[in-house]
Amino acid sequence: MVAACKGSGADATTSSDPVVRGDELFRVACSRCHGAEGKGGPVGMLGELPARDFTDPTFQARVTDEDIGRTIRNGRKGMPAFAAVFTPDQVAVLTSRVRRFGPPARDAGDAPRNDR
Ligand code: HEC
Repeated sequence: MVAACKGSGADATTSSDPVVRGDELFRVACSRCHGAEGKGGPVGMLGELPARDFTDPTFQARVTDEDIGRTIRNGRKGMPAFAAVFTPDQVAVLTSRVRRFGPPARDAGDAPRNDR
């Protein structure tokens, strides 16, 4: 049990529903590069690679949840690191948010999980 985490400054994420929190966090912190639909932002915004298309089944099959969490914490190429910004719980809800952009039925071979 987490004893108390009031006043942590994470004002955008007060909902107890991880799906809602993931949506809010993604909109605030990620959508300017990844787009509200997760399909990536405008090319050349930073003169660099466009962000990846999270709705691409190939991407979803290639990365593990651990990979996604690590990218969020450490950043990657054109992407800033968020380790100092998000708690591990927030990284976890963002990871599931990224997953929900993917196709609902995956047959990538690993055990499918029902998130809802
Ligand atoms: C400043 C722009 C920017 C922001 C803000 C940003 N990203 Fe990214 N992100 C990128 C770019 C660019 C890439 C592609 C890097 C590459 O080609 O490896 C990327 C890649 C990723 C990847 C894919 C890594 C892989 O294995 O291919 C994930 C997952 C990701 N971002 C999640 C997030 C999440 C979640 C947030 C919000 C907390 C976020 N990003 C915020 C620019 C951004």
